[in-house]
Amino acid sequence: MKIVNLLETQQTRDSDENERFAEDIKAGLSSTPKSIPTKYFYDETGSILFQKITGHADYYLTQAEFNILDSIKHELAKIIDSDEIDIIELGAGDGHKTELIIQGFIESGKKVNFYPIDISEKAMQQLEEGLQKHDALSIHGIIAEYFSGLSYVRQHSNNHQLVLFLGSNIGNFSKTQSKEFLLHIRDILSDGDYALIGFDLKKDIPTLVKAYNDSAGYTSDFNLNLLTRINRELGGEFMLEHFQHYGNYNPVLGAMESFLISRKEQDVYIANIDQTVHFDAFEPIHLEYSFKYLKTDIDDLCYYTGFHPIKHFTDDHERFVDSLWQIKSGGND
Ligand SMILES: C[S@@+](CC[C@H](N)C(=O)[O-])C[C@H]1O[C@@H](n2cnc3c(N)ncnc32)[C@H](O)[C@@H]1O
Repeated sequence: MKIVNLLETQQTRDSDENERFAEDIKAGLSSTPKSIPTKYFYDETGSILFQKITGHADYYLTQAEFNILDSIKHELAKIIDSDEIDIIELGAGDGHKTELIIQGFIESGKKVNFYPIDISEKAMQQLEEGLQKHDALSIHGIIAEYFSGLSYVRQHSNNHQLVLFLGSNIGNFSKTQSKEFLLHIRDILSDGDYALIGFDLKKDIPTLVKAYNDSAGYTSDFNLNLLTRINRELGGEFMLEHFQHYGNYNPVLGAMESFLISRKEQDVYIANIDQTVHFDAFEPIHLEYSFKYLKTDIDDLCYYTGFHPIKHFTDDHERFVDSLWQIKSGGND
């Protein structure tokens, strides 16, 4: 597997990233309500914890999507009828489920060029360790933000392309951000290219709440790890035992929301931004949205962003959907 790191030298990259992290934390912890952007979850420990979350039975999303991809892998290769295909995965993580799709194409006699894109070097390392090698498969890992990675692939290949955005990655975006994100993908891709996008469906609330409050406490550790990261990289003085994970469903937004709650009134100094952050007792830091969808919401999003819907693939319990869309010149009929 070849790995390209799209950011310049390691040193420049680290200092740029550290500066951006400091700016985002300063802005996020000065806002009302306080917040931290989700992309900072995935340092080395965060990527390992995320892998543990996805392996836990309470987090039904991964198993549901695994079952879908396992059952459609050959059908997908039949629909996307091309001898050689680029599979580009945005936010690939450990690529565990994607391996099924790759298998489906290879077993159907096709050649696959797999381009996993992820900002986390640890995730890329996990992917490299886990993915099976095959003569018909070439893997080009790209450590980058979503769109710089996607543009890079476009500059290097003219093959038919299938873009994957799996898990519930899209759920972390608001409905407006999702539209902008998908419009951007559509603009970068060409006529005939495909996108397969994972959507977690609206369902009974206890199932949702359990998934984001797993009994092993991995989600709690994953969220608290953000404070450890601020302590390590920005000279923060957070005491983890003074914060508590809280995840709940907001039926008005149609989203799971996760927070860290300050257990008491406290002041926390962060050296790199030279700021003392005040927390009232029980004040939240908003961390993440996980928006849930109806199938009709997915159809609306597909049409709005100018894709042509091919098929919704769902699991036996209708918990999750992987929706296949295509770009067709002339737009939708
Ligand atoms: C929720 S995990 C999903 C992983 C995998 N797709 C799955 O379904 O299990 C999100 C992944 O996206 C990556 N990621 C988050 N923000 C990103 C960004 N802006 N650009 C590239 N990768 C990003 C993270 O490092 C992480 O590996």
